[in-house]
Amino acid sequence: MGDYTNMSAYYDVIMTSGYYDYKLIVDNLLEHEPYQHVLEIGCGTGLILEELAKRKHVESIMGVDLTQSMLSIAHERLKGFNNLTLSNQNVTQLSLDKQYDLVFSYGGVWYFVIDGDREPFLVSHIADPVANEQGFAQLSKFMIKGSTLLLGIQGPHFDYEKAISNGMIYSQKIDPCEDGFIKHYYLADKGQNLMAQTVQYRTYDFKSAQKLLGTYGFEYQVESHKDKLFLRFIKVS
Ligand SMILES: C[S@@+](CC[C@H](N)C(=O)[O-])C[C@H]1O[C@@H](n2cnc3c(N)ncnc32)[C@H](O)[C@@H]1O
Repeated sequence: MGDYTNMSAYYDVIMTSGYYDYKLIVDNLLEHEPYQHVLEIGCGTGLILEELAKRKHVESIMGVDLTQSMLSIAHERLKGFNNLTLSNQNVTQLSLDKQYDLVFSYGGVWYFVIDGDREPFLVSHIADPVANEQGFAQLSKFMIKGSTLLLGIQGPHFDYEKAISNGMIYSQKIDPCEDGFIKHYYLADKGQNLMAQTVQYRTYDFKSAQKLLGTYGFEYQVESHKDKLFLRFIKVS
């Protein structure tokens, strides 16, 4: 179900040691102006939201995430921004009090992997197919017609181990499974294991992903992926 509780205390140091480039992510988001009501699904500890809120003032920013310990860190990080709200929710039961004109997920609930010249495939933190349908159905309710849904693009996942900025050793291991893969995240310090987190992901080939999103009114916008960190969908119905 995409719960990140075990990883939350170490998430920021792992991610800001080169795993994601938060400035570049926000550069890409800003290309989609104008928008006034922004929603991030799977906002984690709020690293993207902080960068976004610092760089661009909009009427409202909302972040939702199902892992309370990730959101607690986000609350602390984002408490200075009075246009920003956080909510502990699973997107499959999303309930919000307004509609948004820009929604994005980067490494959050859903994202795409592009491996060289191959077609993108959708990766979901939600392993159950019916729950994925529910997630897009709920999300669709809180997006105005003509609004933009941006789902992040990542490179292929592989097994590796590397030292991060504080000298600890981060490693990850990918095991294929039926309908997707299981990813194991580890952190160790001086030979001692500090953290182990396992997340199961469901994958959809591009045709199935477009069909799934299309069912809930999201139309893929064909454009070059070069220098892009998001695939763009427009809510057409
Ligand atoms: C890899 S983190 C990405 C966090 C953030 N977007 C960032 O770039 O640092 C994935 C986040 O998605 C959240 N998540 C996974 N499945 C979810 C769901 N069904 N509903 C809401 N949040 C979910 C997890 O709790 C986790 O915090």
